[in-house]
Amino acid sequence: MPDAPYAVQMENIVIRFPGVLANDRVNFTLKQGEIHALLGENGAGKSTLMSALSGLYKPTSGVIRVNGKPVRFNSPKDAIAAGIGMVHQHFMLVPTQTVTENILLGLDTPRFFMNLPEYDRRVLALQDQFGLRVDPTAHIWQLAVGEQQRVEILKTLYRGANVLIFDEPTAVLAPAEIAEFIQTMRSLVAQGKSIIFISHKLHEVEAVADRITVLRKGKVTAEGLPMAGLNRAKLAQLMVGRDVVFAVKKDAQEAGNTILEVRNLQAANNKGTPALRGVSLTIRAGEILGIAGVAGNGQSELAECITGLRVCETGSVQVDGRELANQPPITAIQSGVSHIPEDRTRVGSAPNLTITDNVIMKRYRTAPIGNGATIDAAQAASYAQKLKQTYDILAPSVRTQARKLSGGNLQKVILSREISANPRLIVAVQPTRGLDVGAVEAIQEHLLDQRKQGAAILLISEELEELLTLSDRIAVLFDGRVMGVVEGATASVEEIGLMMMGTVQEEA
Ligand SMILES: Nc1ncnc2c1ncn2[C@@H]1O[C@H](COP(=O)(O)OP(=O)(O)O)[C@@H](O)[C@H]1O
Ligand SMILES: [Mg+2]
Repeated sequence: MPDAPYAVQMENIVIRFPGVLANDRVNFTLKQGEIHALLGENGAGKSTLMSALSGLYKPTSGVIRVNGKPVRFNSPKDAIAAGIGMVHQHFMLVPTQTVTENILLGLDTPRFFMNLPEYDRRVLALQDQFGLRVDPTAHIWQLAVGEQQRVEILKTLYRGANVLIFDEPTAVLAPAEIAEFIQTMRSLVAQGKSIIFISHKLHEVEAVADRITVLRKGKVTAEGLPMAGLNRAKLAQLMVGRDVVFAVKKDAQEAGNTILEVRNLQAANNKGTPALRGVSLTIRAGEILGIAGVAGNGQSELAECITGLRVCETGSVQVDGRELANQPPITAIQSGVSHIPEDRTRVGSAPNLTITDNVIMKRYRTAPIGNGATIDAAQAASYAQKLKQTYDILAPSVRTQARKLSGGNLQKVILSREISANPRLIVAVQPTRGLDVGAVEAIQEHLLDQRKQGAAILLISEELEELLTLSDRIAVLFDGRVMGVVEGATASVEEIGLMMMGTVQEEA
C-alpha cells in the first residue's frame, strides 16, 4: 500500500464561515486501500473538510481530485456518484421506516415498494459481503445506536462508495461495539475500500491507522505521516500543540459530611420496565463516586432521578438533608445540584441562543448577573467571556449561537456552566465523551478542582480508565442494582469487569 495510487487528493482547501476560517489551505491525501486517521482538537475543522469532500459544502478555494481527476461537487449526490460516502456524527435516518427503506431512500429505485422483499435480499447480500448484521425489516427506532450506524454504512456501500468517511463513529458506541466496528473497518479495506477515520480516541487510531493527518485551528500540522513510528504522546502533542499528561494527578484528601444520600431507589425506564431496583449510595463532600456499568443498566435513570427529571417509584434522594425525589428540576438546581447530561444538544443547551445566554441559564436570577427581574447584559457577557477563556471554547465570540459550535465546543459550554456554578453536587454523565485529549485533561482537572473545593461528584462513565483515575470509590451497576463498591485506589479492571457482567467474586 505504501505506493498505492491516490483515491483522493485535496489541495489548498480554504473554507470560510462568518468570522471563522475553518480550513486554511489544507492539503490532504488518501491512498487506495488505506485507513487514514484525521485528527485534531474539537473545532479544528475536521468535519468541515470532510463535508467538502462529501459534497455538503463548497470550498471557498482549492482543488479536490478523485482518482487523479479534478472534481466539483454541488451536492452529496455528486460525491456519491464519484464513489465517496460519509457517515456523519449525527445519523440521518428516518426512524419510522425500515432498514431497507432507509437504504433505498433518495434513490430512483423503480417501484421498490412493490418488491421490498427482493431489496431486503439485496441488503442481506451486502451484509454478508461486509459482515454488517442488522435485520433489514426492522424499523430504525427499534435499533440500538450501533445497529443504526451499520445501516448508515450499508447505505453508503449500497450506493457504491469506494471511499468511506467516518466522522467520530466510535464516540457513540459502547466498548464492545467499538471492537466490532474496528473489525468492520479492517474488512472494508481488505475488500479494496479506502477509509478516512476521525476519532479522538488515540488507542483506536494506533490500532487501525496506516497514516495520519492532523489539523489544528484549521491548518495542517502533520500531513499524511505513517502511523508506524508515532505513538499516543506524539499524536496528542501534534493535536494540542503541547504535551498532554494522560493521567491527571489526584491528591489524597479527607472526605467531609454526607452530601448525597440515595436510599432504596426504584424507578422505571422509558419503556416502563424496572430500571432501578433498590439503589442506595452516599457521597460525601470532596468525594468522587464513580458509577461503572455497561450502558443501559440504570445509569441514566439514576442521574435523572437525582436531578428531578424522572419519577421515583419508591425510595429517597436527599442532598444536604433536603428531599429531591419527585421534585421539579428547579428544586435540585436550588439545592446546588449541577447536571452534565448525556444528551447535550437536546437536554443540556438551547441551540438557538448565544453562548452567553446558555452559560447564564441557571444564574440569571442572582447577582451580579440579574436580580430576578432584569439581567445585566455587560456582566453576563463578561462572565461568558471568562468561561470561554478558562474552558478554551472555540467560537468567534460569546454572541455566537450554540448550534454553530462544533460538538466538542458545545459540550464545553455546558460543562463550564455546570462546573462553575459552585455546586454542592455534580451529576456528571459521560462528561468527557467526544472530547479531544487536551479537553479531556482540562475537564478532568476542573472536576478534581471541584472535589478539592468540597463538592460531591457522581461520575457516570463508560471509560474505566477515567473512573479509575478520578474516583475515590467506584460503584458498579448491573441490572438496576449496585453489585459492589470498590476503592478507586486499589480497584482492578478485572474485578470491576466481572461485576459489570453481574458476577460477584467469591470471598477468598
Ligand atoms: N455551519 C457553520 N457555521 C458557522 N461556523 C461553523 C459551521 N460549522 C462549523 N463551524 C465552525 O468551523 C470550525 C470548525 O468546525 P468543525 O469542522 O465542526 O470542527 P471539528 O469537526 O474538527 O470539531 C469551528 O470553529 C466551528 O465553530
Ligand atoms: Mg467534527
